[in-house]
Amino acid sequence: MSNKRLTIDYEEFTSAEQMLPEDQELVKAAIDAQKGSYSPYSNFQVGAALRLANGLIVKGANQENAAYPSGLCAERTAMFWAGANYPDVPMDALAIAGADHGVLCESPASPCGACRQVMAEYQKKHGKPMIIILVGSKRIRKFHCVDDLLPFIFDSLTV
Ligand code: THU
Repeated sequence: MSNKRLTIDYEEFTSAEQMLPEDQELVKAAIDAQKGSYSPYSNFQVGAALRLANGLIVKGANQENAAYPSGLCAERTAMFWAGANYPDVPMDALAIAGADHGVLCESPASPCGACRQVMAEYQKKHGKPMIIILVGSKRIRKFHCVDDLLPFIFDSLTV
């Protein structure tokens, strides 16, 4: 038996202005994407902005349904749309911004397990790290790849 330790390095910013210009753009797009949220049940609006390797920014927002499990998170609406329309273009970075009753959360909303698993799948498909940016009004966290949010990723039955 041996004891192991896993550590995660990530960057934290107190304002988007401290970030690279392309990340600032993505943060703004994620906040803007909240406008597309259909969330009459939770009143929690989530916007996602996905930057593709061809420079395109794809927006997504959570879509709820009276039959609760039929809804979908913001992250997956963006990734599935990109996967369907640009299947061969890597997904470089994904920013996520959650708002409670229209007010951007102070501390960033964190993606659910199902969304992390989908991020992991596309990151593996394209063989390129996907940067994840979690946006809050008081702090913004930047992770270098999906592995940092989902260690010991399930990716196959054969490994
Ligand atoms: N939601 C997202 O869109 N992304 C997340 O990362 C967490 C949760 C949505 C699902 C539901 O519409 C609402 O937020 C409340 O859970």
